[in-house]
Amino acid sequence: MRGAIGIFDSGVGGLTVLTALRKRLPGQDYLYLGDTARLPYGSKSETTIRRYALKAAAHLFNHDVRLLVVACNTASAHALPALAKISPVPVLGVIEPGVRAALTSGARRIAVIGTEGTIRSRAYQDSLRRRAPEVSVTAAPCPLFVPLAEEGWSDHPITDQVAEIYLRPLLDSGIETIILGCTHYPLLRPSLARVAGPGISLIDSADAVTDAVVQRFRGAPTGRGGAGQVVLHLTDASDRFRRITRTILGGDPEHLEVVDL
Ligand code: DGL
Repeated sequence: MRGAIGIFDSGVGGLTVLTALRKRLPGQDYLYLGDTARLPYGSKSETTIRRYALKAAAHLFNHDVRLLVVACNTASAHALPALAKISPVPVLGVIEPGVRAALTSGARRIAVIGTEGTIRSRAYQDSLRRRAPEVSVTAAPCPLFVPLAEEGWSDHPITDQVAEIYLRPLLDSGIETIILGCTHYPLLRPSLARVAGPGISLIDSADAVTDAVVQRFRGAPTGRGGAGQVVLHLTDASDRFRRITRTILGGDPEHLEVVDL
């Protein structure tokens, strides 16, 4: 996969980024690594998240990717500087593009939701404060959203109830925009949008990082043959992960390999 765009997530949530990228840059080759054997990253310590992220990135570097997209908010929050230091290729995380998209919307009261690790890192909160000190920022971890997304309950009364519990205090505080600071959360968009209501915009970090990659690659040479090959590497390919992968990609992946890091 020499010259492919390398994408890495703790699991299969980052496939939302792969899907968004393929739509916008169909001629590129993609190598996606989902560290499903070590998922979730969101509840782990900073040291462990960084160690896992470095291993995952090394795997993609060994396959000569031309760009590393860290399609995991938790890994972006804790490991981006460490990854940038060792990377032989440009590295893009999801946090800064998400922050830029939220500020571009013009909102002055922004909420960030994500895993416990992402919220604890304060990566979003600090970046928003640095770029726009006048903006009010609130943040909430939503740990049950990842299992609900993986269960495929994207439009489900239980997800509505959980979202109501997590989002109600944010909504009552008058926020205008919610950054979906986890690559699993776009999968729950129907429930989240219903609970948030029509006046609240939901910023998808998958879309935001895709814009950043497209800007970088517009006019760049495509992958071999320009047909766009997609290879999936998972560190565990249980039936459950295969099923979720099919759901997100809308069909079976052409090339799926189980790898050890
Ligand atoms: N995909 C991860 C993220 O964007 C969440 C899943 C996990 O906890 O590993 O933060």
